[in-house]
Amino acid sequence: MKVMDILKKYSESIDKEIEASLNTIDPTKLCEASDHLIKAGGKKIRPSLVVLSCEAVGGKSEDALKTAASMELIHTFSLIHDDIMDKDEMRRGKPSVHMLWGEPMAILAGDTLFSKAFETILDTDVENIPPKRVVEALRTVVDSCIKICEGQALDIGFEGKLDVKEDEYMNMIYKKTAALIAASTKAGTILGGGTEEQIQALAEYGRLIGLAFQIQDDYLDVVSDEEDIGKPVGSDIVEGKMTLMVVHALANASKDDKERLISILKANNEDLVDDAIAIFNKYGSIEYTRDIALRNVKTAKELLDVLEDSEAKESLKLLADFVLERNH
Ligand code: IPE
Ligand code: IPE
Ligand code: MG
Ligand code: MG
Ligand code: MG
Repeated sequence: MKVMDILKKYSESIDKEIEASLNTIDPTKLCEASDHLIKAGGKKIRPSLVVLSCEAVGGKSEDALKTAASMELIHTFSLIHDDIMDKDEMRRGKPSVHMLWGEPMAILAGDTLFSKAFETILDTDVENIPPKRVVEALRTVVDSCIKICEGQALDIGFEGKLDVKEDEYMNMIYKKTAALIAASTKAGTILGGGTEEQIQALAEYGRLIGLAFQIQDDYLDVVSDEEDIGKPVGSDIVEGKMTLMVVHALANASKDDKERLISILKANNEDLVDDAIAIFNKYGSIEYTRDIALRNVKTAKELLDVLEDSEAKESLKLLADFVLERNH
């Protein structure tokens, strides 16, 4: 099966869960603002990982659907708030929520999705699944939400900080991105009744592909085109964001190139994006980061050895590769 088919396979039932949770929001403006990005449709990687992890340890997909929907709600909440923080005007090929409804309503739309996520998990049918598992899954999800906030705070703090070390960058992306992906695989494994060893292994698989996922996100911001990623290219450079390419280039460039890159990151000028990319290329920063991401994906796939062979296991392998093959 192709990755797009795997993601599509679960999309419909996940969408149904999300719709059921969002159709009672009042007033209409808040309802529309909350629904806007959900309707625009994302790739559904996180909810698919919840369901696949559950199935991979012998659980039933139905038992993981509420938590899967909840992960997509949390992800979407984080995107709405992220676009306010990053001043990004486009998301999923559409105007960002704050561009259409203004920042105050966008903040509320994010808060609404965030709250709906927990309502959704708490709606899990405990007739079919031990409540203890649901509580453990919930604990995992809550923990990842705290990490997202910490990671986003670090991300903001790194703007203009030009001596960020690689391990500081990795910690930042672990918290802002990989933690939610790790929580998806961990919560799915818990719900499916996985052993402690399987829970740990799948959480680590999620963390590793999550790190690769953010490295790829940073890379796509530089190399892809607007149509594919649904937002302008080079926005991280314009915003002066710390990415692994920037960390690497700043650590390895000549004094002149380092100064040049710093001035580009401070300039807030989209015409300088190509100059920054030229510096990344000169110091091999793009290959360097890609290599790290590839190694993470390889290790992640090896961790799946704790699982018995199944279609879900194969899908998890394919999804790990997809993280670096995707163009949006
Ligand atoms: C984008 O995530 C935000 C990051 C954490 C890098 P996705 O690429 O999964 O976004 P959608 O859900 O498919 O739009
Ligand atoms: C996204 O990081 C992290 C979260 C949404 C929590 P980015 O800011 O790099 O994501 P994009 O590039 O806007 O999707
Ligand atoms: Mg952003
Ligand atoms: Mg951001
Ligand atoms: Mg990005």
